[in-house]
Amino acid sequence: MATAAAQPTARGQAYGGAQDDAGDTTAYQRVFDAAVAADERIEPRDWMPDAYRATLVRQIAQHAHSEIIGMQPEANWITRAPSLRRKAILMAKVQDEAGHGLYLYSAAETLGTSRDELLDKLHAGRQKYSSIFNYPTLTWADVGAIGWLVDGAAITNQVPLCRCSYGPYARAMVRICKEESFHQRQGYELLLALSKGTPEQHAMAQDAVNRWWWPSLMMFGPPDDESQHSAQSMAWKIKRHSNDELRQRFVDICVPQAESLGLTLPDPDLRWNEERGHYDFGPIDWTEFWEVLKGNGPCNEQRIEQRRRAHEEGAWVREAAAAYADKHAGGNGEARA
Ligand SMILES: [Fe+2]
Ligand SMILES: [Fe+2]
Repeated sequence: MATAAAQPTARGQAYGGAQDDAGDTTAYQRVFDAAVAADERIEPRDWMPDAYRATLVRQIAQHAHSEIIGMQPEANWITRAPSLRRKAILMAKVQDEAGHGLYLYSAAETLGTSRDELLDKLHAGRQKYSSIFNYPTLTWADVGAIGWLVDGAAITNQVPLCRCSYGPYARAMVRICKEESFHQRQGYELLLALSKGTPEQHAMAQDAVNRWWWPSLMMFGPPDDESQHSAQSMAWKIKRHSNDELRQRFVDICVPQAESLGLTLPDPDLRWNEERGHYDFGPIDWTEFWEVLKGNGPCNEQRIEQRRRAHEEGAWVREAAAAYADKHAGGNGEARA
């Protein structure tokens, strides 16, 4: 990403000179619009409308925060994983999520926003993360349900982002999606083992799916007619499909998978609609969604408190890393302080 930022794109070179000519942005707007229309990538050094930049910062920050807050509910089970194999897999998965946060904070940096600034906003409650992580992980089976459903929903949302109009975000998503598909499979495999296990294990898997199904459907955001940012994001090709479209795609993928898992999805209205060529599903409780979003979910306070504490306790690591980098850059830590 740093390389991309350092190399002006053809568009940056062709129009770079004109950018000194302050005042008239119409020409830049035209170039930007043409690039988006032609499915070209917008790169950090290209001119972009302020609102496009602000939308990307908001979305990438929320995505990055979700990755690192999402480490908490699953990390809760690392010490209690039932075998060394399961523990190693879960540790690798949680570590991947930290990496995803890192790629995304880096992508946000290319828009001129530092990681410190974004973390401060998260800690102050001024930026959001995905509401799904405000639900507790009550049993070991929740690790499976999160992998299968939450990472599965994330993939459905994120695969189209690999074609997002902003280059650094799109490129970060390519690797993230590859790792997410590993996460989804580990969740599926874990649930399958439980589902085929003892009656108690099967019941535990079913209970976890019952609790995570509806919140997973809410991960796609409010219905299209209530979605604040959707239309503009689609016009800018940041978003490629609407919330309802992606939600439907996810339901259609999950129903046959639930059947092969031997588990039931907790929705009596779920049935194949021959005419639409999709599964119909029951109404979503949006009151619950808005409550969790407002901060009234079961774990909102706990998640943000733990994040703040981790940040404070990690201060010495950041200081040491900065001093080390400074030393290797030939400087002197004390002189700089
Ligand atoms: Fe992730
Ligand atoms: Fe993941």
